[in-house]
Amino acid sequence: MTVSIHSKLPNVGTTIFSVMSQLAESSGAINLSQGFPDYQPPEALVNLVKQALSAHYHQYAPMIGVEALRVAIASMLSGHYGVTADPDTEITVTSGATEALFAAIHAVVRQGDEVIVFDPAYDSYVPAIELAGGRAVRLALEPSTFAIDWDRFERALSAKTRLVIVNSPHNPTGTILQSSDLDRLAGLLRPTNCLVLSDEVYEHIIFDGHAHATVLAHQELAQRSFAVFSFGKTFHATGWKVGYCVAPVGLSAEFRRIHQYLTFSTTTPLQVAIAQYLQLTPEHYRELGKFYQTKRDYFRNLLAPSKFRLLPCQGTYFQLADFSEMSESLDVEFCRWLTVEHGVATIPVSVFCAKPTANQHLARFCFAKDNTTLDAAAARLRAI
Ligand SMILES: Cc1ncc(COP(=O)(O)O)c(C=O)c1O
Repeated sequence: MTVSIHSKLPNVGTTIFSVMSQLAESSGAINLSQGFPDYQPPEALVNLVKQALSAHYHQYAPMIGVEALRVAIASMLSGHYGVTADPDTEITVTSGATEALFAAIHAVVRQGDEVIVFDPAYDSYVPAIELAGGRAVRLALEPSTFAIDWDRFERALSAKTRLVIVNSPHNPTGTILQSSDLDRLAGLLRPTNCLVLSDEVYEHIIFDGHAHATVLAHQELAQRSFAVFSFGKTFHATGWKVGYCVAPVGLSAEFRRIHQYLTFSTTTPLQVAIAQYLQLTPEHYRELGKFYQTKRDYFRNLLAPSKFRLLPCQGTYFQLADFSEMSESLDVEFCRWLTVEHGVATIPVSVFCAKPTANQHLARFCFAKDNTTLDAAAARLRAI
C-alpha cells in the first residue's frame, strides 16, 4: 500500500529567504535578501565561546537556560529598561527567537482560537498559529505609513481572540511602535482575555534618538505579554540561534511546558559565553543603534541617485525601496529579475502578506553588510 501524507501545512513551501539566498548563490548575485550580517561577531565574544568549549561546557544546559545568562539578561532588562524580571521564573533561554515564538503560540492557542497578526508579518507566525489549530486574522498595516489602524484592530477583536502578535522594530518595514501605540493596545485589551506576543528581536537596532518601547516596561501589557528577543541580531551571530522569552510567572510556566519538549535546552557553551560577554561588554548592545544608523545612512546615500524611492527606516537592518519608477512588474518577479539580471538579491514584500495588493512594488534590502558589499551592490542598483 502506498503511504499517503496529508500535509499539515499544505500551503507552505520553502521560505522565500532560502529561495532568494539560493538564487543569489546560483546566479552569483550579491545577497541583500536574507537578514544576516556578512561581518563577524565581536572577537572577544568568539574567544569566550572558544574558552567555554575548552572548559568542557558540552552537556545539556538547564531546561530554562544557564543561570548566569538568565541573571545577565535580568540585569540588562533592569539597566536598559528599568524592568524587573525574575531570572528563575520569568526568563527562559530559547533556541533563537523562532523557537520562542513557536513555544509561546503553542502555549496558549487552541483549536478555533483567533490570533491577530499585522501584515506584512514575519513569516514564522502564521504557520505556528495554524499548527496549533488557531486561525490567523491578518490585518493590513496602513499602506503608506505601515502604522497600525487601531480602530480596525478594535473591530477585529472578538470573543475568540486569544493572542495578538506585534513586532517592533518591524521586519520588513523598519517602522517602530510608540508608547502611545502600546497604551492604545492596553486600553483595547483591558476588557478581554487576550494575550500579547511581542517580537522585539531588533530592540537595540533603533535610530534617530528613538527609544525602544518594550511591552515589558508597560505596566498593564507586561501582565499579559510574552516578549521575545534574539542574541543572533544583537551579536551579529544569527547562526548561533540563542534567544529568550520574558513573561510573567504563569505565562512562563506554560511556555516552559512547550519549550521543554520542543528543544529541552539551548546550546550550552554559547550561553556561558554570552553571559560573560553581557557582563563584560554592555556597550556592545548600547551602541548597536548607532552602528546600524551609520550603515543605514551610508546605504541610503549610496542609493540616493538610483531610481529606487527609499521609504523611512526607523529601526531594524532592513531598508524598503519602491521600484515603481523602474518597473511595473509585481515584486516577486522584479526581485527575481534584479537577482538574475542585475546581480543583487532582495526580498519581495508581498510574501509577508496574505493580501499583497498594497505592497507589490516594494523590495526589502538588508544593509547588515560590510561597506564594500553595500558599495558593490549599490553600484549595480544605480546602473539600472
Ligand atoms: C521579526 C523577526 N522575528 C524573529 C526572527 C527569528 O530570530 P532567530 O534567528 O533568533 O530565531 C527574525 C529573524 O530574522 C525576525 O526578523
